[in-house]
Amino acid sequence: MSSSSRFAEYALGHSELEMRRLILQAAALRPMTERLLRAAGLAPGMRVLDLGCGPGDVSLLAAELVGRSGAVLGVDRSEEALVTARARAKEMGLAQIRLLHAAADEAVDTVMADKRFDAVIGRFVLCYLPDPIDTLRRAVARLAPGGILAFHEVDFLDEFRSRPLVPLWQQAGQWLLESFRPTIAHPDIAGRLVEAFETAGLPMSGLFCECPVGGGTASPLYAWLAERVRSVLPLLLQSGAATCEEVGIDSLEVRLQQAVVAMSSQVAAPAQVCAWARKSCGEDSRLAR
Ligand SMILES: C[S@@+](CC[C@H](N)C(=O)[O-])C[C@H]1O[C@@H](n2cnc3c(N)ncnc32)[C@H](O)[C@@H]1O
Repeated sequence: MSSSSRFAEYALGHSELEMRRLILQAAALRPMTERLLRAAGLAPGMRVLDLGCGPGDVSLLAAELVGRSGAVLGVDRSEEALVTARARAKEMGLAQIRLLHAAADEAVDTVMADKRFDAVIGRFVLCYLPDPIDTLRRAVARLAPGGILAFHEVDFLDEFRSRPLVPLWQQAGQWLLESFRPTIAHPDIAGRLVEAFETAGLPMSGLFCECPVGGGTASPLYAWLAERVRSVLPLLLQSGAATCEEVGIDSLEVRLQQAVVAMSSQVAAPAQVCAWARKSCGEDSRLAR
């Protein structure tokens, strides 16, 4: 599949810069996603499908967990993202990873029909799917007995908080969320994973929630938020919610740091929810189709 014209675009694109941002963000998120995959029961020898793998961080992590006796198939609708993911898998010598250019639905319908999969996983992807519950339902139906669903999503209806209040932190968070939200099909999915899993036919086994928190001079959150605002800047300016001068993108990181430190504030970013479910071992996936 080479043409990307039939896939809707990821609002932030797949430029080299955006791939670098996703990889940097992924390093900070890895402990949480790893906790999810371990709690869900990802283990050596399993065959895993990673939906919306982007530049590959979740696929790389899953490949470490399933080892050489397992296999991971990462799928993404962006060929540019897959080029980065392939190069990283090769550099890390992870021969158990394959990467496929496909929409998530299409992968669930085609590759899962052909091969046994023990887990379907993803991070920051259900929110983009046209009908995430339907995709989950079809994935559940095709999962092997004892198979796992595990997803990590951010709650776009949450907010950026600061105590004591730092107006610039709240404002920058609002710029980010208000620019990004309209581009996301299901901004509330992180808060509805119990409902989504249940409706898809596999009741939740467990879930947890964390939000990035920071404060003091050394927190990486100032750079992270400033970079995210930079990535949505064209959308933000286009919406008319702020002017270039108000945002002051080149000094935003330093101004955030100074404002938070001056108030001895503790700041937080929106909640991220990790949820997993396991199909019963006796359930024959062919019957569920
Ligand atoms: C925010 S990125 C997350 C990437 C990766 N999972 C991670 O956590 O680093 C979302 C990714 O989902 C992909 N995506 C969105 N909708 C998709 C769909 N319907 N089918 C396949 N990939 C999709 C985008 O191309 C993008 O690479």
